Amino acid sequence: MPSPQPAQVVILGASGDLTARKLIPALAAAFRQGHLHPATQVIGVARRPWDDDGFREHLRCAVPSLGDEFLARTRYVLTHLESAEEYRALAARLDALADAAPAHRVYYLAIKPELFLPTLRGLHGAGLLQQAVDGPRRCVVIEKPFGSDLASALALNHALRELLDESQIFRIDHYLGKETVQNLLVLRFRNALFEPLWNQKYIELVQITVAETIGVEGRGAFYDGTGAVRDILQNHLLQILALIAMEPPASLAADDIRDEKVKVLRALRGFAALDPRRHIVRGQYAGYRREAGVDPQSETESFIAVRTYIDTWRWGGVPFLLRTGKALAKRFTSVRLQLRMPPHALFGAPEECHLRPNALTLRIQPNDGVELDFDVKEPGPGLVIKPAKLDFDYAARFGRALPDAYERLLVDVLHGDQSLFIRSDEIEHSWRWIDSLRNAMRDTPLYLYERGSWGPFASDDLFGPCEGRWWCG
Ligand SMILES: NC(=O)c1ccc[n+]([C@@H]2O[C@H](COP(=O)([O-])OP(=O)(O)OC[C@H]3O[C@@H](n4cnc5c(N)ncnc54)[C@H](OP(=O)(O)O)[C@@H]3O)[C@@H](O)[C@H]2O)c1
Repeated sequence: MPSPQPAQVVILGASGDLTARKLIPALAAAFRQGHLHPATQVIGVARRPWDDDGFREHLRCAVPSLGDEFLARTRYVLTHLESAEEYRALAARLDALADAAPAHRVYYLAIKPELFLPTLRGLHGAGLLQQAVDGPRRCVVIEKPFGSDLASALALNHALRELLDESQIFRIDHYLGKETVQNLLVLRFRNALFEPLWNQKYIELVQITVAETIGVEGRGAFYDGTGAVRDILQNHLLQILALIAMEPPASLAADDIRDEKVKVLRALRGFAALDPRRHIVRGQYAGYRREAGVDPQSETESFIAVRTYIDTWRWGGVPFLLRTGKALAKRFTSVRLQLRMPPHALFGAPEECHLRPNALTLRIQPNDGVELDFDVKEPGPGLVIKPAKLDFDYAARFGRALPDAYERLLVDVLHGDQSLFIRSDEIEHSWRWIDSLRNAMRDTPLYLYERGSWGPFASDDLFGPCEGRWWCG
């Protein structure tokens, strides 16, 4: 890793939930481990009437583990971001805070999406986004949701291009900061074992699940206007899919990786070419309409499962089954690649056809790791075949807890490394496919499912005969 350089991390929305729960703990951990330069400053911006000490007090209460050394690096600038006049004062304060040495500056937009553009225009108007050739970097981190459909994502990208160069824009999806997601590249392209099997010749079906046990948890109004498709499928799930299915990149350079991900997203089969009732199952958990902030007549999906295809040479004909939902039986994120049966049934077919001999499962959370299912002979007379498993557990192998995804991603931003961030064309192709899904969804029933179940039973029917069933952790 390159050595850290002096930087100012300016968090816009510093009194909010994301800052307290994710950004500050991640920055403090990176600081403690020497991944940030000792002169790094973390500058909070919001409307609360705080001074530096008031901000520190808030941080100390929100994150009791913060050390004094880190807190001493924090500052606060009260600013109303909707008010264009206040950006000159913000610029003057940031410049005054910068020590003599030139520092990179990162603006983290931890604010609601409606404020993204007014804030960026304000920063631009005060000269805060301009960077000199070979001068310190000026970068912007943009949280999800990035748009709510293709048209709004295109409009936002277009507006960003007028203010910033693409190399300054870090569209974040924290799933890409998870170790197991990054390990996908190593697993596939560093080991001779897996990549030769990674295609339609050997893989029969791929399933990806992002399952949550919680319901809307006080975010009813936001969730009801968003739904599972836009909240999880459009970003986390499609990003995992792109990494699973992409071709080997020419190098590990950010654009080489992102070029390959875009090709996958472009090749995803739209739902105009598929029968919606056989390829889409949407559901809503019982009691959803009684949640605070939710419309009592709401048709918003809290569960979605789809069967789709990636129309490329590598994946032709392989079904990709994707599902995500709230109030499900167990919290986990996983990818499971089911391998085809051997070409000749020397030992007879498995008695139950859902028991496929080989499957590779990538556990993304919790218990991050990789497991491989295969069959072995049971010791003793005769030939009795039993399932067995090789299990790799990240934490057990490396003897320490995995770093939080935000920590890794924030350090990457400070190094100017965009490999794990989403480029404008990735966003646009993912929204194009999501729009086609949302159109097709209108012709499908909204099933009710029990809290703590695996969603609508109909989602099992997305598997064909002898294609197996959903993996449930
Ligand atoms: N929370 C999460 O886990 C999470 C996860 C993924 C993505 N996100 C995204 O991250 C963003 C922030 O989420 P959040 O949950 O942290 O929201 P939040 O708790 O509502 O915080 C919003 C922040 O914006 C500030 N703010 C609002 N209007 C402002 C204005 N006019 N001028 C200056 N500051 C203003 C608020 O501070 P004052 O009230 O003090 O002004 C507060 O600090 C959203 O885009 C969200 O979609 C959040």
